[in-house]
Amino acid sequence: MTCRICGEATSLLLDLGSMPPANRLKASRADTEQHYPLAVERCLSCFNLQLTYCVAEEELYSHYFYLTPDSPSLRAHYRFLTDHMFGEGYLSHDSFVFEIGSNVGRFLEHLKPLVGKVHGIDPAGNVCRMAVDNGIDTTCGFFNRETAAALERTHGAPDVIVARHCAAHNKDPHAIISGVAELLADDGYFLMENAYALNTLVNNEFDQIYHEHMFYYSIRSVVRLFALHGLRLIDVLQAPIHGGSIVFVAVKDGSKAAERPSVAVEAGREAAVLTEDLLKKFVDHVHVNRARLSDLINEILGRNQTIWAYGATAKGVTLMNYVGLDSRHISYCADSTPIKQGKYIPMANIEIRSEQDAFDAQPDYFLLTAWNYKEEVISKIRNSGNMTSRFILPIPTTQII
Ligand code: TMP
Repeated sequence: MTCRICGEATSLLLDLGSMPPANRLKASRADTEQHYPLAVERCLSCFNLQLTYCVAEEELYSHYFYLTPDSPSLRAHYRFLTDHMFGEGYLSHDSFVFEIGSNVGRFLEHLKPLVGKVHGIDPAGNVCRMAVDNGIDTTCGFFNRETAAALERTHGAPDVIVARHCAAHNKDPHAIISGVAELLADDGYFLMENAYALNTLVNNEFDQIYHEHMFYYSIRSVVRLFALHGLRLIDVLQAPIHGGSIVFVAVKDGSKAAERPSVAVEAGREAAVLTEDLLKKFVDHVHVNRARLSDLINEILGRNQTIWAYGATAKGVTLMNYVGLDSRHISYCADSTPIKQGKYIPMANIEIRSEQDAFDAQPDYFLLTAWNYKEEVISKIRNSGNMTSRFILPIPTTQII
């Protein structure tokens, strides 16, 4: 197979088997499910990691259940991003900011009072309607060269284009990046944020692997991708959000913007750490951790104790299905998103309930499937008056905290 970024040959890294798309929650237990191969391959030329098989985008995104939660850690992250962008001069108070994959518009809502104009694009009709109802100007559709050209005619060229956690969600990132190159103002800035492959590997986050995550970006693969579309990387930031994210800032080749020292520093670190040896250790650890979590769950159930999952996350779907956990092991899964409640996790067939139900149930253990919000989740549960439930942290390695 070939790398969908640079076209060189790839080889298989990890096969998680056949799985349902992680956000395809079921209305009832008996609903039929489609399963597709879930495996990652690597390119040794540009150090890109990608899925071997990509589910059609219409199937994944036309009706979508992932609504960006309103969480203190996300709001802090938005402030971190905007402070950096204003501090470095990427943003000013009259900037036009355009966001690709804007979901319900939470980041644009944060930016709106701070800049001149905001506009988003998102492929999921149900999600776009919620953004528009919330006062965020949003176009419904996939972003590519054609939609970019149409947006330029109707809205003009943005000073800043943002693509947070969406460039990995498309089989062909060239479609998005060529659209960015088409639409961005000549002296504009492009900010792209993704889960960082280095963190995914170092922290053993195999649950980041699901059908929507078609790419696991490294600095090397992003530099190659940008260069193919006349974009130049000028800044790199690391952020703890979503298990360790990386933020890339790029400009058009003709821009005079200077490269920040962060590019050489982070690229040097990546070259030293993101090696073939790390890939091998990651795969070995996934196998060990799967057995460890499965043994722990069986031990708890053997004592007739109860376990709920907390967070009907896409990560949790991979985790539970890969480890072979289902409604016989996990009583329910709590989640704050109203449209997820009453639905079922595909394959595992675990019913999703409200957080209040979880507070009332006081199970012996919570499996933290939203481990990226663990502090928030644990304090919420303790603040509900539950001082007894214990917590299973599955990543980076199974442990009770
Ligand atoms: P994410 O990790 O992809 O952002 O998904 C987080 C999921 O966890 C989302 O479905 C909302 C849910 N959640 C809760 O149920 N309670 C919480 O306190 C937080 C922060 C998230």
